[in-house]
Formats: sequence, structure tokens, C-alpha cells
Amino acid sequence: MTAFQLGPLLYEGKAKRVFQTDQPDLLAVEFKDEATAFNALKKAELEGKGALNCRISALLFEHLQRSGVPTHYLGVQGLRWMLVRPVRVIPLEVVIRNLAAGSLCKQMPIAPGVPLDPPLLDLYFKDDAYADPFLSEARLERLALVSSQERLELEALARQVNTLLLELFAGIGLQLVDFKLELGFTADGQLVVADEISPDTCRLWDLDVADAKERILDKDRFRQDLGGVIEAYGEVLKRVQGVIQGPSTYK
Ligand code: TMP
Ligand code: ASP
Repeated sequence: MTAFQLGPLLYEGKAKRVFQTDQPDLLAVEFKDEATAFNALKKAELEGKGALNCRISALLFEHLQRSGVPTHYLGVQGLRWMLVRPVRVIPLEVVIRNLAAGSLCKQMPIAPGVPLDPPLLDLYFKDDAYADPFLSEARLERLALVSSQERLELEALARQVNTLLLELFAGIGLQLVDFKLELGFTADGQLVVADEISPDTCRLWDLDVADAKERILDKDRFRQDLGGVIEAYGEVLKRVQGVIQGPSTYK
């Protein structure tokens, strides 16, 4: 590490550790090799996953920032460290679905792969103790996590991210099926995209592969015991690296 000193651990999640640094406006995020699914009922150590997700996420954040989307991202350090601005993360998982998959197909009669136009935006309460439940409009209002103006802003930002990522991934032969974003506010009140954007948090299907299992290049390989998780994430990184310069080392 250069340019800053690592401080105490602030928070440990399922896939990342967040550390303070000696600078007030800088946090260091370590991407772990642990994989979890189904609210951590399923767990494994997947060597190399942290480095892959750190790099994919960094490249995607750089692409979004160049396209005018504010994020918490500042740069990378080494293989599995990302430097970010401190953000008050809104405890909402903002999921955008372009094609039906996952929980949507378990909860209503819709077949995997059916296009959703306009894309569906679902909000979940980010709290492991409650297993991240889907929020109705009335429950969202009752929780009062964001004002109605902030809600409009965060939905617009999430849809803008979707438009940019759909196009980026389509250009490298990948269908962005759905993804989850976390957003938050910086100290000066700016709404930014936070957390990570990686095959842990996106569904990505290889557009050149017809087989419904073989085309999966994301965490569903782990969730469904399909094997080849690291190979799939590596393929995503290879393609993303082909079209995005970077990532920049934090200095
Ligand atoms: P779902 O179909 O299980 O609701 O997931 C929708 C998208 O959100 C999918 O791309 C995976 C991502 N996701 C997360 O990043 N974290 C989670 O805890 C869950 C449940 C989903
Ligand atoms: N991220 C959640 C967990 O670790 C769920 C998932 O991604 O499937 O359990």
C-alpha cells in the first residue's frame, strides 16, 4: 500500500471488508474470496474471486464515471483492494430486471428469459436479519429510508446505469439479465452508486451460447452448483478488459 495507511476494520460483509485509512475521506475495500448464496446458507472459498470482482467492478465503475454516473469509486491498489469515498449507504437493494430470472420466476408465473420492457425495478430491504425482503410501496413508505424526491433520484440513476451497462455488455456478447445496485450519499449529499458491480451482483448470459446452463457467466453457477465459477468470472473480465481501459491505481 502507498499513498495512505490502512486503519481499523470498519465493517465486514459477506464478500468484502471495509477499512478506515489515515485520510478522512478515503476508505479501503478488500474483496474476499468467500462466496455465499441464499443469505449465507451456502458458502465456499473460491480462490481468485476477490481479485476478479475487484477488477471487473473497478472497470465498470470507471466506465460509469466516464459516462457521467457518480460512484464512490476512486481507484484500485494491488489485485483485490479498491479505494472509495465514504458513503452513507441506503439500506435498499435496487434490482433492475431486463429479462425474467431468479426470484422473479419463483414468485410469479413468468418463464426465465422473458423480456421485461420496460425493465422491472424492484426494491428490497437490505438487512440480513430479515433476509432482504421485497418491499411493497406501503412498506417502503413506512420504513421511510428515503424521501419521495430521493426515491425518484435513485430510481433514475439505477435506470441510467442499466442503459449504460446493457449497451456495454451487449457489445461484448453478454446479455445483462438483471443486477443489484446499492446507492448512498456522500458527506456533501451527492447520491452515488456504491458497493460493487460484478458477476456476484449481476446475471450475465453469453449471447453466443444457447444452452440455458452453459450460457451462465455469473454467481448462478455457484447458486446452482454448475461449477466453473472462476472460469466464468474470468471470461467476463477478459471481455470487459477488451473494451474498457484501466483500472487506474489509486495514488
Ligand atoms: P434475484 O433474482 O435473486 O432477486 O436477484 C436479482 C439480482 O440481484 C441478481 O442479478 C443477483 C442480485 N443479487 C445480489 O446482488 N445480492 C443478493 O443478495 C440477491 C438476492 C441478488
Ligand atoms: N448475496 C446473498 C448471500 O450471500 C444472496 C445471493 O447472492 O444469492 O447470501
